[in-house]
Amino acid sequence: MSYDILLSPITINQMELSNRVIMAPTVDHLASEDGFVTPRQKDFILKRAKGGISMIVVGGIAVNPRNYPFVLRIHDEKYLPGLRDLVGEIHSETDTKVGAQLWDWLKIGRGFRQDVNEVPMEQIGRTLDFFEAGAIHAREVGFDAVEIHAAHGYALAAFLSLRNNRSDEYGGNLKGRMKLIIEIYERIRKALGSDFPIGIRMCGDEFIIQGNTLHQSRVIAKNLAEMGMDYLSISAGGRYEDSQGIIAKYGCPHHYPPIGGYSGYRTMPPIWMPEAVNVYLAEDIRTTIRNSGLNTPVITAGRIPYPELAEEILQKGKADIIGLCRPLLRDPEWLTKTKEGRSQDIHKCVYCNTCLANECEDEPAVCIYRADED
Ligand SMILES: Cc1cc2nc3c(=O)[nH]c(=O)nc-3n(C[C@H](O)[C@H](O)[C@H](O)COP(=O)(O)O)c2cc1C
Repeated sequence: MSYDILLSPITINQMELSNRVIMAPTVDHLASEDGFVTPRQKDFILKRAKGGISMIVVGGIAVNPRNYPFVLRIHDEKYLPGLRDLVGEIHSETDTKVGAQLWDWLKIGRGFRQDVNEVPMEQIGRTLDFFEAGAIHAREVGFDAVEIHAAHGYALAAFLSLRNNRSDEYGGNLKGRMKLIIEIYERIRKALGSDFPIGIRMCGDEFIIQGNTLHQSRVIAKNLAEMGMDYLSISAGGRYEDSQGIIAKYGCPHHYPPIGGYSGYRTMPPIWMPEAVNVYLAEDIRTTIRNSGLNTPVITAGRIPYPELAEEILQKGKADIIGLCRPLLRDPEWLTKTKEGRSQDIHKCVYCNTCLANECEDEPAVCIYRADED
């Protein structure tokens, strides 16, 4: 099989990607407990970058100073030397571009997470400052792009959601629910300039009762593309509200179990879901924005195990770029083998989600089938 589109280049703003496969953001839990890059983490990320993918989106990287162990942080200058070293090494050893996924979450306590409807105005102001500082720091240490994390129930997803019933200007109707993201985008764009790639990750469907579905998200995506967002990475699910029963049953040491309910499973589709189960969300959004005359690249992800399927998705115009997470945890050489016509040699992910279960236990999110190598 030839991979005419998969191996063809694409440009995002001024950033040239050499092919259509990227590593989707992955909290690997290999950072130090207080948020610094560790040598093991650097090796882990570098190994994936060396596998020939065109971009690796590092993260989520915390833009706030709130407690959350073993995740990368970027809010304070003390974290910058480690990040600069990581990005510098990827650049010097590979052609892979490096994006930073900027991540904020609502306050979390034991079995509790702040409701978006109760977030005070001062916290909204701080969120804006956090994202602006995070983006400036990301550019300073050499990242080629930033990605605003507005998916999976975290702070910005909570604002975007139909469940945001705030009665002030940051909630209620679509304009109110998008206001914080628009303000963040405008601040970051002003700080980074028109030629710095800024993308966003959002859910095509939250898979929760009275959450966003395509009915809302295709309009949100169109507005974001019109505003100048350089790419849209379309994910699904991951809503905290769907995990609450699990939290009540098992407790929750630091944060919530992200695959606690059906919505979470849609983010990381397990073996019992069909392949490419979320691609229709990207396809719908891509069609919507193309029909509006916009060429914004659209990324899809979720249970795309082998390159033949990835190529077919691109050929059928369902997405422009394929994001992979677990397949690259399983086999960092997924794309090298594809390029060399050895796709049969790819060690296939079995979507057991043990990587994720490890993450929920604050253990490294490595694949059990190659734990010795990572
Ligand atoms: C261990 C693990 C950590 C993840 N961390 C993030 C994250 O920090 N940000 C994010 O947007 N998605 C995160 N995801 C979701 C992935 O980016 C991806 O969308 C999802 O796993 C589906 O793709 P896949 O089938 O190729 O794994 C994570 C997934 C896993 C398994």
